[in-house]
Amino acid sequence: MDWGMRNRLSRIIRRDGRTVMLAVDHGYFLGPTTGLENLGKTIRPLLRYADALMLTRGMLRTQVDPGFDIPIVLRVSGGNSIVGKELSNEEITVSIRDAIRLNVAAVALSIYIGAEYEHQTIMALAELINQAEEFGIPVLAVTAVGREMERDAKYLSLCCRIAAETGAHFVKTYLCEGFERVVETCPIPIVVAGGKKIPEKEALALAYKAVSKGAAGVDMGRNIFQSENPKAMIQAVRAIVHKNFTVDEAYELYLKKSKK
Ligand code: R5P
Repeated sequence: MDWGMRNRLSRIIRRDGRTVMLAVDHGYFLGPTTGLENLGKTIRPLLRYADALMLTRGMLRTQVDPGFDIPIVLRVSGGNSIVGKELSNEEITVSIRDAIRLNVAAVALSIYIGAEYEHQTIMALAELINQAEEFGIPVLAVTAVGREMERDAKYLSLCCRIAAETGAHFVKTYLCEGFERVVETCPIPIVVAGGKKIPEKEALALAYKAVSKGAAGVDMGRNIFQSENPKAMIQAVRAIVHKNFTVDEAYELYLKKSKK
């Protein structure tokens, strides 16, 4: 890996090998997701607690102060919608030149293993990696799961390993029973998505399990920005990821910060 690539990755995954990525890219196929109707306003108080921000080009340009120094993980795949026919029908949506112009730390693209457009999305990942390698830009492969896909260790190991074999530099997936197997068989760092909104303590337990079973951290969205108190929640997640807080300690911190 060249210096530029390593430098960009180290801005996202910090010296302790961990990261708290704030994911707010949902609108690329979900439109104005609950909590992100006014994306700029929602994320403003949260940015200082995030190691990286994952979002789309349009939201970056219009909602984020370019003077604020935060590594950007730019979603560069799309082409479907929640009301469309097939979620897996994605392609690359942003040129590598525009990603560089936006000074991103990494680019992200979804692969849909086992879905109708599996081949197209793996080839899009390969193409993106070919382009990004030329400029030292890391690629995050997002293991997207269809509505009917079983999120078990066998399936998620398959997805993560294919992402790594294709050349992705880090991968986003889900926590599952036997998550250790996913980690053991994947030679690149794994970040765990939060998934649908669940009670705060359960989301903190998810983050705790993820890092204690070997994930490099979380790429969490709805469980932060849809929380009763997003600012308190991201601080509690951060305490788990970077300070090895237990779930109880982090939940206590969440309650304390919520009162302020
Ligand atoms: C999907 O829309 C995106 O890839 C999200 O970034 C990802 O699902 C993480 O967000 P959440 O924690 O809300 O699942």
